[in-house]
Amino acid sequence: MNTVNIGVIGYGYWGPNLVRNFFSAADCTVKAVADGRADRLALLAKVFPTVNGVKDADDIIKDKDIDAVVIATSVFSHFPLAKKALEHGKHVLIEKPMTASVAEADQLIELAAQKGLTLMVDHTFLYTGAVQKMKEIIDNGSIGTPRYFDSTRINLGLFQPDINVLWDLAPHDISILTYLIDGDPCSINATGISHTRNNIENIAYMTVNYDSDFIAHFNCSWTSPVKVRQTLIGGDKQMIVYNDLEPSEKVKIYDTGYNHKTEEDKTRIMVDYRTGDVYLPKVKLQEALSGVANDFVQSIMHKKQPIANAFLGKKVVQILEASQESIKNKGKEAKIK
Ligand SMILES: NC(=O)c1ccc[n+]([C@@H]2O[C@H](COP(=O)([O-])OP(=O)(O)OC[C@H]3O[C@@H](n4cnc5c(N)ncnc54)[C@H](O)[C@@H]3O)[C@@H](O)[C@H]2O)c1
Repeated sequence: MNTVNIGVIGYGYWGPNLVRNFFSAADCTVKAVADGRADRLALLAKVFPTVNGVKDADDIIKDKDIDAVVIATSVFSHFPLAKKALEHGKHVLIEKPMTASVAEADQLIELAAQKGLTLMVDHTFLYTGAVQKMKEIIDNGSIGTPRYFDSTRINLGLFQPDINVLWDLAPHDISILTYLIDGDPCSINATGISHTRNNIENIAYMTVNYDSDFIAHFNCSWTSPVKVRQTLIGGDKQMIVYNDLEPSEKVKIYDTGYNHKTEEDKTRIMVDYRTGDVYLPKVKLQEALSGVANDFVQSIMHKKQPIANAFLGKKVVQILEASQESIKNKGKEAKIK
């Protein structure tokens, strides 16, 4: 295959960003875009006059000239559209979160494997210079053994009509956690509150537990007066502060740590603190979505697993599904199956 012909389903808020990035990616052509809304197709015709705008997603899924389908519609439509596209022999890139349940994610993974097709999820943040740099730093052992991951993603955000704030915002941070930290979590405790009458939580707190002595915590809200996009990753040698709102100095490494000794009677511990230099690694400032588009196309061409592969996408959904169970049970521990 010399060129991958792409069809995009959904040209709402995020779809145009995908179309723009696939337009400039190597080895692919955006052939068609589907959206049920006439105003969105009119906008497409204005911005990308060479791309065929169609109303019906089937016109893309069943088009023999299209090799790969990008799905940028709301979460509950991801599974039926992706399943149909895979059944028609198309490679598929699905927006985050991959599906609305683990069972759906499993079905798609199996179908893609059976047909030898690429299945990827747009976990955009994995392709940022900041996350790539943190991966390098953690993998080369600089921070030592990771002990905790603590993320805050809050702002006066758009209330979603169909999914709660964790399903909306946390996929970004959960995908970063899953990519950076080895080992799978065992359970979740989550609580949240809905201040609207639809029972959809607009504030939620989630703890991700591991069998090891690592812990992760997520704070997500659509109702904060200030925008915070910050993650702390603590190792037993150094600690990382990742502030995505910083224009260039997004990642800071603190040569900070502590040593502790437990006294013989175990009721007293002695802690020695160490605060050293702060180091600012150089982070590439590329548009992450162009990394997503290129990884998808090259994974299809070279039959390789993309960074944001379907297995990682499924792990994100596993955590979200367990969080939902825990929230329903007022924070009771929900095991990850
Ligand atoms: N990766 C990111 O950073 C990021 C950012 C924002 C949104 N998203 C994800 O992108 C997806 C879409 O979000 P959005 O905010 O763009 O939603 P949106 O509602 O603005 O856009 C969805 C569009 O899809 C169209 N559509 C829906 N079903 C269709 C169908 N069967 N056939 C044709 N058109 C159809 C709708 O008419 C609409 O224009 C969601 O999964 C969301 O989580 C990802």
